Amino acid sequence: IRRRKISVIGAGFTGSTTALMLAQKELGDIVLVDIPKVEGPTKGKALDMFEASPVQGFDANIVGTSNYEDTKDSDLVIITAGVARKPGMSRDDLVNINAGVIRSVTEQVVKYSPDCIILVLTNPVDAMTYEAYRTSGFPKNRVIGQSGVLDTARFRSFVAEELNISVEDVTGFVLGGHGDDMVPLVRYSYAGGIPLEKLIPADRLEAIVNRTRKGGGEIVNLLGNGSAYYAPAASLVQMAEAILKDKKRILPAVAYLEGEYGYRDLYLGVPTILGGNGLEKVIELELTEDEKKALDKSAESVRNVMKVLQ
Ligand code: APR
Repeated sequence: IRRRKISVIGAGFTGSTTALMLAQKELGDIVLVDIPKVEGPTKGKALDMFEASPVQGFDANIVGTSNYEDTKDSDLVIITAGVARKPGMSRDDLVNINAGVIRSVTEQVVKYSPDCIILVLTNPVDAMTYEAYRTSGFPKNRVIGQSGVLDTARFRSFVAEELNISVEDVTGFVLGGHGDDMVPLVRYSYAGGIPLEKLIPADRLEAIVNRTRKGGGEIVNLLGNGSAYYAPAASLVQMAEAILKDKKRILPAVAYLEGEYGYRDLYLGVPTILGGNGLEKVIELELTEDEKKALDKSAESVRNVMKVLQ
């Protein structure tokens, strides 16, 4: 029996926060990777985290590196490398810079961990996950993107605040690309098993949905420099835990579609089952006409980003 090995590529705000949260949950040993130019700071962050472990009482080796040999035989690789969104910049502006990063990172990852599962966070995430899929040559169940866990986390936070109830009792549901036209499905969202529509007036609920859609931008504007990282890191860790513990959780994920929801050869946010084999199943639901129209629009904007790439 050996401890799981998790590599986190990109040791910036999100990557290092993710590494710490993974370690705190004792999900495995952690290798934090960044470019040679920042190898010192990367090693420093990893060592600093390791030194927090006796105080917090978790056992995990955490090392920093710029050498992909150190990632050899990882079970899970989380990619956060890239450039973060600046105020006034859309996620789509990032596309070409980050696609190049994803390609070079994925080549290295695959070389040393041909059997790993890859989890992508880098934005625009739907297109970047596709890029990792294409570069890796992995089967679709082993290349997964994060967006819906974060989007629903934002939705759940706002609902809990509105109702003054525990965040734990609120569930949310979101479909589509990780962009301003994501599709939060209110009729599948509950508080303590009670449909939200019975607890919150329609106009308030609509305001919450709109705030959720623009949730990334709200943080970007407040930070002034960079984009959200605590909630994105927490979201990655929840997906990682579902996979590493083979929990078979129903979580929204960016999945490769081959006909599901009427789309083909596209990565898009949909409800899935995450377990030891990665993305084990896409759950298909019937949508109303309006929901399908909204999802089409979201899929279209993902395709437009993909066009920029080709
Ligand atoms: N290989 C490894 N690391 C890289 C590479 C590369 N080719 N290119 C850039 N990086 C590293 C940077 O050196 C930096 O340390 O990725 C890190 C990114 O960290 P931050 O700039 O702090 O960005 P962060 O806020 O963590 O966001 C990362 O996640 O939410 C998304 O949109 C966001 O795409 C962005 C990503």
